[in-house]
Amino acid sequence: ATYKLLLLPGDGIGPEVAGGLQVVLDALKDTGLASFETETDLVGGCAIDAHGVPLADATLQRAKDADAILLGAVGGPKWAGVSYENRPEAGLLRLRKDLDLFANLRPAICYPALAEASALKRELVEGLDIMIVRELTGGVYFGEPKEITNLPDGSKRAVDTQVYTTGEIERIAHVAFDLAGKRSGRVASAEKHNVMKTGVLWKEVVTRVHSEHYANIELEHVLADNCAMQLVRRPKQFDVLVTDNLFGDVLSDIAAMLTGSLGMLPSASLGAVDEKGLRRALYEPVHGSAPDIAGQDRANPIAMIGSLAMCLRYSFGLGEAADALDGAITDALAGGARTADIAGEGTSAIGTKAMAETIANALKAR
Ligand code: NAI
Ligand code: MG
Repeated sequence: ATYKLLLLPGDGIGPEVAGGLQVVLDALKDTGLASFETETDLVGGCAIDAHGVPLADATLQRAKDADAILLGAVGGPKWAGVSYENRPEAGLLRLRKDLDLFANLRPAICYPALAEASALKRELVEGLDIMIVRELTGGVYFGEPKEITNLPDGSKRAVDTQVYTTGEIERIAHVAFDLAGKRSGRVASAEKHNVMKTGVLWKEVVTRVHSEHYANIELEHVLADNCAMQLVRRPKQFDVLVTDNLFGDVLSDIAAMLTGSLGMLPSASLGAVDEKGLRRALYEPVHGSAPDIAGQDRANPIAMIGSLAMCLRYSFGLGEAADALDGAITDALAGGARTADIAGEGTSAIGTKAMAETIANALKAR
């Protein structure tokens, strides 16, 4: 089958890393590993410039029609004066919301060649490969009431509300257990049932989904604060880590620091399975538009290219092509290819295009 990819390069370094992605897509086609129909459209600041809104209705429709979406990054100082509702990031938020992308997958992988760049000692992180599955559309960031009110004494009172329903927890649990089935077969679920009702329900539902459907998977419950500690103390004990929106935000940033540069980290946001049997899916680097280095051919394209590897694996089940692409990234790094962000002192760096070409060549050489 030929799958339809929608490319949304966005702003800043977005188009540069998306250019690197194109080089790799061509190499995948040349090697016969995977072939796609691609369309390109605007999101973020560039869409504001063209259409006055950060995500045009026609682009949203294309996103719904595509089999998967690959996005670069949005935003930048040029659009600092735009209203909050219409800012570049609102385009990305609208995509996530309208496609109901409730599961955010963030791998923390430590490449052997880059173990020195980790915040931890080499032996703690070498070979690290964790997948954090964060609930993305519920919890305290969205719960009502959410308000700041004035009190009679002139001070204020702020309220955020953490809400989770059985259905919301079930669907994220299924994503985590399904993923674990394709990996080491282990899931850790992090919450705080000792002090939060949402934690009590989270633990109860994850336990039930596990016992009803995933007898072959090993499940462990861990308190979120202890989990933060364990991530720094002995991170390789985890494989798939499933957690709510707030804890996932924090725990995934901790995990990111175990791996080195922001320019290395891919992500996926997954929704429900559609009529074609494909999950709605958006793949993007964790980093932003990096205005400080935009337009200079200095951005690291690996987060973007790694996002494509996730797309091959999780949207289309092309495990062989995904392994080859992940392997090509490892080979390129082992061969000494470094963009400026991962070069370290005294090591010479190559540009975005050269890094993408090195990875494409490594792919062809496998
Ligand atoms: P950022 O991730 O764009 O940059 C942070 C630092 O990391 C910068 O020094 C940058 O040069 C570096 N960096 C990021 N990606 C890199 C790469 N691929 N290669 C080499 N170095 C890289 O975060 P920042 O500066 O907070 O935000 C800049 C803009 O991006 C803002 O407008 C922000 O709203 C937007 N943003 C967009 C996101 C998205 O599209 N998903 C996510 C985060 C921020
Ligand atoms: Mg965060």
